[in-house]
Amino acid sequence: MQPDEPRSLSRRRLLQWVGASTLGGLAGCASQLPGFGDDADGSAVTPRPTVTGDADTTVSLTASDGAIRPATDQSTTTWLYEGQFPGPELRVQEGDVLSVELNNDLDAETTIHWHGVPVPNSVDGVPEVTQEPVASSDSFTYTFRAEPAGTYFYHSHVGLQLDRGLLGPLVVEERDPHVEYDYDYVVVFDDYLPGEPTLPSDEGAGGGGMGGGGMGGGMMGDVRPPYEGLLVNGQLPEDPPTFDVTEGDRVRFRFVNASSATVFGVRITGHELNVTHADGRPVDPVAVDSFAFGAGERYDAVVEATNPGSWFVQADALDGDEPPARAVLTYDQLDGVRNPETPSSSGTRLRYEDLRAVTPLDGVDGTPDRTFDLTLSRGRGQSYTWTIDGQAYPDADPLRIHPDEHVRIHMENQSPVVHPMHLHGHFFRVGDAIKDTVMVPGHMGEVTLDFRADNPGRWLFHCHNLYHLDAGMARVIEYVE
Ligand code: C2O
Ligand code: CU
Repeated sequence: MQPDEPRSLSRRRLLQWVGASTLGGLAGCASQLPGFGDDADGSAVTPRPTVTGDADTTVSLTASDGAIRPATDQSTTTWLYEGQFPGPELRVQEGDVLSVELNNDLDAETTIHWHGVPVPNSVDGVPEVTQEPVASSDSFTYTFRAEPAGTYFYHSHVGLQLDRGLLGPLVVEERDPHVEYDYDYVVVFDDYLPGEPTLPSDEGAGGGGMGGGGMGGGMMGDVRPPYEGLLVNGQLPEDPPTFDVTEGDRVRFRFVNASSATVFGVRITGHELNVTHADGRPVDPVAVDSFAFGAGERYDAVVEATNPGSWFVQADALDGDEPPARAVLTYDQLDGVRNPETPSSSGTRLRYEDLRAVTPLDGVDGTPDRTFDLTLSRGRGQSYTWTIDGQAYPDADPLRIHPDEHVRIHMENQSPVVHPMHLHGHFFRVGDAIKDTVMVPGHMGEVTLDFRADNPGRWLFHCHNLYHLDAGMARVIEYVE
């Protein structure tokens, strides 16, 4: 890999997209209860068992080598589920029991994680934390009840396999949606890396070669993987997918940021986005021209097809300079081919503060029972390391919590790059939204999230920039009695 110039999403630029630098923060009045620290003798709490009995939907996903063709004149061999890229769309009804048999035809270990779904711990798919990784030629069955409804995705949780194509969308349809729409399209954005992903340090790039070297430890920038483009549903902009609509339709788009290291700014030219769900959870609809989201985040938006023509669904990398990912929204009344219209300005942008969950998260009112104050930073020294409170996972202390506590995590980002932080097994409240992944802006950006400890087990809490995760930016949250 050729180390790039340091490139970081400036705080100002991210704030333009996201809004305030402090979210849900109750400055000065967060209680400072100690973590368990040294009295770590608490015994583990038994996780809830997963469902047994008959599944409503049974799927098998085989992970193997395969070729993809992101544009007509480009193909590459990568790792895939069912030979497809993205992997097959899994779609079930809220409350259905889903059973997925993972068959590992790779010559490496693998797992599947159900990103955002608060599954029982045993089927969360995190190697060495919730299960032994599935060996080559082996298989493993994940069975769980698909709830709550929402737009999710699934992906390998081993090393950098997510950036090698092992991902796919998971839609859990609500039985009673809070907004009306006629049909939906799933839109998976991704960054395109032909070949095998590697950590910068694997290239012997050392601290100094990685960009920002002179700035010292935690303030150092980052290096972007050598992406060769940006994808919508596996396609480069040279060969964009098309979404057909009819004038008068209300179309629900389920946007998924399945990238490994990209913050996308998303818009549809000529159309407003009525954002209806954040990370799958219903919000009071908010009309914007665009939104930004980090790796692991999802937004659903209902678009009214009232402006016949041919339009770009476009996602710009806010932290990269590849040409934008593009699909084309086309009205079927069009006679003859028209060139899609290119976006001009980005207009009004969604901010986290605009999001109001339709139903508040239970059990997170008032003063938390336990608060963790965590700093996010770049590790000092030669190797490529990212840390939470100075520790790089797996050499990092677990964060211990008791069942049923109201837990608060406050994060301060001492690095110049954004960290999309994701919590397994739980939704959290951030501001008035309910989410499972939240961007913490660079340059001392702060975010506070609150959750109820209602799903015992050992859960990963980590940056969803895959390279930051692989380089240590993770902790296990562990329930103890
Ligand atoms: Cu998308 Cu640890 O997960
Ligand atoms: Cu990060």
